[in-house]
Parts: sequence; structure tokens; C-alpha cells
Amino acid sequence: MPQFNTLDDLDLKGKRVLLRADLNVPMQDGRVTDATRIERLAPTIEALIARGAKVVVLSHFGRPKGKPDPAFSLRPLVQPLSQAIGGRPVAFADDCVGPAAQRVVDALKPGDVALLENLRFHAEEEKNDPGFAKQLAALGDVYVNDAFSAAHRAHASTEAIAHLLPSAAGKLMQAELEALSAALETPQRPVAAIVGGAKVSTKLDLLNFMLEKVDVLVIGGAMANTLLFAQGVDVGKSLCERDMADTARAILDKARQGGRTLMLPVDVVVAREFKANAPTETVGVDRIPADAMALDVGPQTVAAIEQRLAECRTLVWNGPLGAFETPPFDRGTTEVARRVADLTASGKLLSVAGGGDTVSALSHAGVAEKMTYVSTAGGAFLEWLEGRELPGVAALARK
Ligand code: 3PG
Ligand code: MG
Repeated sequence: MPQFNTLDDLDLKGKRVLLRADLNVPMQDGRVTDATRIERLAPTIEALIARGAKVVVLSHFGRPKGKPDPAFSLRPLVQPLSQAIGGRPVAFADDCVGPAAQRVVDALKPGDVALLENLRFHAEEEKNDPGFAKQLAALGDVYVNDAFSAAHRAHASTEAIAHLLPSAAGKLMQAELEALSAALETPQRPVAAIVGGAKVSTKLDLLNFMLEKVDVLVIGGAMANTLLFAQGVDVGKSLCERDMADTARAILDKARQGGRTLMLPVDVVVAREFKANAPTETVGVDRIPADAMALDVGPQTVAAIEQRLAECRTLVWNGPLGAFETPPFDRGTTEVARRVADLTASGKLLSVAGGGDTVSALSHAGVAEKMTYVSTAGGAFLEWLEGRELPGVAALARK
């Protein structure tokens, strides 16, 4: 992780601060359905206000095609943002650059907050265009990036702009980087990772990097079926990437050669139909019926994972162990999540979780707040776990 400035390193009094946020939050019918990212951003805005800055919030929202599209306006975020900072007013500009933005920024007094319209209404944003970055930079005196969850994008507002103004990580960015570094760069050992999800193919780089970093790798979700299949297990009708068998065997070999413990399910919960409360059976992985699919890990697997985690000091979690959205296939994930919460509460385990599904699964288990750290990031968290440099983080490196 590069050395970066924090808010403490910047002179903020009376300064126009361009705060890159990630307000790309789930919305339905104009309402925010999960305000986590807004709530986690609020302390940075409050700190900037307290330091007498003029706060100019920049964000993307959704994936408009490089031109204005009312369906992707940030205007509906004004009220939720205001609410998150104790009801302080938030001004809004219809464009993130040019005269509309300039007018709103010019009217700010120290301690005021403005939100500018969706950055992605300009195609230059996603092209990391230097001219567009310059236009953005002209609106501020300093740049603060709090959008860790967008740091895997080399865009004008996350990358190019950081080279044009004095820049720093905001409090959320700092917390994300510190948590991930505590888990993967300088962890207390043994370190475990739980990796779940549907496909080996989408998490190949992640699995390979995890096998270099962790002592124990627990694999769950449908991707475990692919690894079992590669070992000759008949997985019946289970979701399985049969064409990935060679790749899966290479992963198993790498684990063996590196002396890592790779944990696959020993028993699974199967059903003939994938629907809520379908009749289920719990079977050893060598007994999966030909007409059934594995949809969750079984109790013996849960016990084995829990026992192993009790010996670990650090855990990184990405991806559920079963089809947790559909009960009763949430059971394995929920039980392990609660155990992780207990180990964390007793100070035995540092637990860091991230990725969209993972956070939903932990919330579903009622323990999202009980992890040491839960990332606000989806794709950026994954790329970090793949060992990649995130352009938005690299650009903050102290020059
Ligand atoms: C996210 O929600 O993953 C980030 O806001 C990045 O959005 P993007 O995947 O559209 O770049
Ligand atoms: Mg994404």
C-alpha cells in the first residue's frame, strides 16, 4: 500500500475541497434502498465542515452512456445526503463542470456543502481525460478521495485529478485501506480467507492471490462444486463449470505445493428444486444424488470451518457459502457468520469482509456490524484481493 496523505496533512480552512465520493447506491423508485455508502461518507464531510472547508461532492451514479440522462441524476441523493450530515443543507449543480458548477461552488461559504451532477454525464470522465480532470480541478483548491469503492476505475475524478491538486484520502478511504492492509499486508497469522460465489472463472485471480497470502482457504458456494468435480466427485445437477476442471486442478495443486489448507465442503444440503423451502437432504459430497443440486454446505462442513477459524487470527471474507437469499440455503453462511462474529467479539479474530453479496449475507445473518471491518466496495474489494494496484489509490501516493 502506498503512503498517502490524510485530512490531517491538508490546510482546509476556507478551501474549496473536491470530495470524490461514491454515491452509487442502490435506489428504487427514486428512493435509496441501502444508505450504507452515504452514512460511511458522512464523517468525512463533517470533518471537512468542522475544519471550515467548502465541500464540493463529486460522484458517479450508475452507468449512463457519457451523456446526461435523467434516470441517472444525482439530484435524488441531495436529501439523503443532507439527512446523513445532520440535516445541513446541500446545494446542487446540474452539471459537474462549466458555468452551472462554477456558480454553485462560488456561492459556498466555509462549512457549506454542494453536490454536483453525475460525473459520468461526460464521456471524458471514464476516459480519464486530462482536460476534463483540469475542468474539475478548476473548481477546487484541494482534492480528497473517499471513494475506495470506485478506486479500481482509472477515471478523471479518481485518477487524473489527483495529480493536479494537493490530494489526500478521506476518512472512509483511509479506513478501507487500513483494514485491508491489516488483513493482507501485515496480518497476524494464521490468516484465513472464505471465498464463495457461483463461479471459479470469475474468481480465478483472486483464488491464486489468496493462495499466496493466506494459510487457510475455505471455498464455498457453487464454485466449490467445480473444485469437487475436478477431484472426481459426481455433483449431480449442481451448478458447476465442468470446462474449468483443469484450472480447478491447478488451484488444488498450487494449494498442496504451497502447503496451504484448502477446505472444500465434506457434506452439502441438496434439493431437487431451487426454490424457497424446497424439501432438502443433507448428504456427504460423495453421495450427491444424480437428480439433485448442492445449494449449501452441510453441518459437518460448518463445524470443520468453525474449528479451523477458531485457530486463526485474521479472516478475509468474500462470497457466501450457499444460496443464502433462498432459505433454508442460508443456514451454512449464517452459522459461520455468527461464529466469526463471536470470535471477533472476543478479540481472537480480526475479520474483514467485502463484496456486495457478502455484505448482504452478513446483514441477513444479523452480524454485519460485528465484523472488525466491512468494506463499502464490491469490485474494488475484489481487485484488491486479486493483488492488483487500484488506480485511485495509487494516484493518492504521496509525491
Ligand atoms: C460500484 O458500485 O461498484 C462502484 O460505484 C463502481 O461502479 P462501476 O462498476 O459502475 O464503475
Ligand atoms: Mg461495480
